[in-house]
Amino acid sequence: MAKVQINPQPLICTTPAVLVGSMVEGKPNFMTVAWCGVANSVPPMVSVAIRPVRHTLKGIKASREFSINIPSVDLVKEVDYCGIVSGAKADKTSVCKFKIFYGNLKNAPLIEQCPVNLACKVEHILELESHLLIVGRVEETHVTKTCLTDDKPDIRKIKPLIYAATAPTEYFSFGDSVAKAFSIGKELVEGKS
Ligand SMILES: Cc1cc2nc3c(=O)[nH]c(=O)nc-3n(C[C@H](O)[C@H](O)[C@H](O)COP(=O)(O)O)c2cc1C
Repeated sequence: MAKVQINPQPLICTTPAVLVGSMVEGKPNFMTVAWCGVANSVPPMVSVAIRPVRHTLKGIKASREFSINIPSVDLVKEVDYCGIVSGAKADKTSVCKFKIFYGNLKNAPLIEQCPVNLACKVEHILELESHLLIVGRVEETHVTKTCLTDDKPDIRKIKPLIYAATAPTEYFSFGDSVAKAFSIGKELVEGKS
């Protein structure tokens, strides 16, 4: 298979598009983050990569708390808006008509319209070059009731937004299931087929 080497880049191809929230000067503010991932399972931890200039970062550094809100596809306009306008210039919460609620972490504003909300405490801040990698411990996970099936979060109901870093950058919706995880690979286990 012919390959072409392109410039080195963190081309993971698809990531989620989430809304990271913090309290900045007493007001909830949200920014769009595509560089978001799972960092640890026990205890539950997630990571977000944030540029030092972001308004949201001020609140994260000051309170050492933040939220990750997983939007569904119907919030795509709001997600893009929160990624192109800074909270230093606009009240994004009121423009987007986000309804805010709080769990026990009063500096981790949660968006009611997002089907999944994580309230996090900062565990580590790693200063890389262009970005700070923030590792947060998930203190609370909230899920909209209608997005559960048999009491478990259901991806088909959550309908998360997927961000594609390939040009032109675009948002996608979740596609069809291809196979069962931790299962289909068993067909290649020696002696099985
Ligand atoms: C799809 C998308 C993904 C983004 N991902 C990130 C990211 O991972 N890290 C980051 O620092 N900025 C990211 N941004 C840019 C910020 O969301 C943007 O600069 C935002 O206005 C910052 O808001 P704030 O100044 O209120 O914090 C992204 C923007 C978009 C549209």
